[in-house]
Amino acid sequence: MAEKRRSDQWFKKDGRDGFIYRAWMKNQGIPDDQFGTKPVIGICNTWSELTPCNAHFRELAESVKRGVIEAGGFPVEFPVMSLGETLMKPTTMLYRNLASMDVEESIRANPLDGVVLMCGCDKTTPSLIMGAASVDLPTIVVSGGAMLTGKYKGKDLATSDIWRLADKQALGEITTEEFREMESCFGRSRGHCMVMGTASTMAVMTEALGLSLPTNAAIPAADSRRKVLAQLSGREIVKMVEEDRKVSDVLTKEAFENAIVVNSAVGGSSNFVVHLLAIAGRIGIDLDLKEFDTIGSAIPLLTNLQPAGEFFMEDFYYAGGLPAVIRELSSHLKETPSVNGHSIIHNSAQHESYNDQVIASLDSPFQQDAGIVVVYGNLSEDGAVIKPAAASESLMVHRGKAVVFEDIEDYHKRINDPDLAIDAQSVMVLKNSGPKGYPGMAEVGNMALPKKLLEQGITDVVRISDARMSGTAFGTTVLHVSPESAAGGTLAIVQNGDEITLDVPNRLLQLELSDEEIAARKADWTPVDLGVNRGYIQMYINHVEQANKGADLDFLRGKSVDMKLRDSH
Ligand code: FES
Repeated sequence: MAEKRRSDQWFKKDGRDGFIYRAWMKNQGIPDDQFGTKPVIGICNTWSELTPCNAHFRELAESVKRGVIEAGGFPVEFPVMSLGETLMKPTTMLYRNLASMDVEESIRANPLDGVVLMCGCDKTTPSLIMGAASVDLPTIVVSGGAMLTGKYKGKDLATSDIWRLADKQALGEITTEEFREMESCFGRSRGHCMVMGTASTMAVMTEALGLSLPTNAAIPAADSRRKVLAQLSGREIVKMVEEDRKVSDVLTKEAFENAIVVNSAVGGSSNFVVHLLAIAGRIGIDLDLKEFDTIGSAIPLLTNLQPAGEFFMEDFYYAGGLPAVIRELSSHLKETPSVNGHSIIHNSAQHESYNDQVIASLDSPFQQDAGIVVVYGNLSEDGAVIKPAAASESLMVHRGKAVVFEDIEDYHKRINDPDLAIDAQSVMVLKNSGPKGYPGMAEVGNMALPKKLLEQGITDVVRISDARMSGTAFGTTVLHVSPESAAGGTLAIVQNGDEITLDVPNRLLQLELSDEEIAARKADWTPVDLGVNRGYIQMYINHVEQANKGADLDFLRGKSVDMKLRDSH
């Protein structure tokens, strides 16, 4: 076994090359007997003080190391590009693919036999899994866990409240000072967003795919059991290397189907769609956008978590966590091995819900048909998504006149113009916010309503865009319209006053114009000049795929052929 290790190509070498590989590592105080005798486990860390959700990861990595050492491995921690959702402009999504390239090449270039991915804030999960999938070594994910629920004047406070509270501040119902004080009461512990937003959705996706040990999705970051899980994951990865259990052994088509079912049952973020599609592209699994609907849309909602419900991620863990949901869903799931060699069904068999206010049974769910729906029509020929669990039932079939914003700056400029012709029947349309057009596919699809509608007590209208929506947001928002406006999709030629039909039961999104009129307008259309002429962003714009394919770069699909590992000394 030992002579077959990948790391042997470095650490078992004789002569000058072997000297160089070992001697520089020894300057860290590593004894000679560690080299060429143990599996080398990379701990791929997204720690960064600019990614506050992952700022505790150096400490968490120590627990992973402890587990690796206990199991007879040799742990080495290394940093990769970290994507902090709250600070990075214009959007972390612009850099997801770049970070995945960093991860892929960092793993491939180094003497690693297995990898532990330290994931937390939204894009740090898909970027690491995408990169690792393209190398395909034994790999396990340790998520960082969610923050404890915020508390303000005795009341719960969480990410989804920010949108509601900002509306209240705009209406003068809360003061700027109160809003500022809430900040301090919000972030009261380590960890990522405490609702079923994108980060928690990604942690759920990871566990449902089988890429982590059970319970990984929901243990709070501040709970000591998060460290225990990290240590156990350190032990497990050594076993995975010994048994040669690679990413591709876990990420089967059945694993993707399980992830779609589980995402529906927890009311996961719509961002799940682009990230899962991108991961499937890396590992060579054929996954079509339509399958999110055919596999997931009829799955009932089994969790009562914000933003769609009432409770928070820590409540989810105390109520039994994801294994309790998986056990309830077992009749909808497929048997396929996870990182520990057993299926997620097997791993969850002994778990149960301790609180039916938080985790419901299949017989009495919080909502029927909770999964993401994909709508097609002349306005979204390659599909667009809507999350009915976060939308208004009354708007599921709706026809209204378009109020068009050419880009998000145009929206900000005009949304509170008293002369803006908008009412409860209107359909807000936002262009140039997709993968190419923004660029990076911003989370702006849940455009806030104008003050004048809020003052009338109107809290939702149909909104359509090629953007994404924050997993912590809500509303009747049709997202990810493909092809996007910047790629010449029909969205580009919608004008104020055009009639649009959204018919969710019939999966339809239609611009009520004749084919001739659409063709004539398209003939007159010219793409917006983004003023980008160099660097990563230019490469991104030239190569990014549309949202219905996961918005990955076209040349990153699949795995690289095994590269010759040359000695360069
Ligand atoms: Fe990091 Fe929400 S900002 S998870």
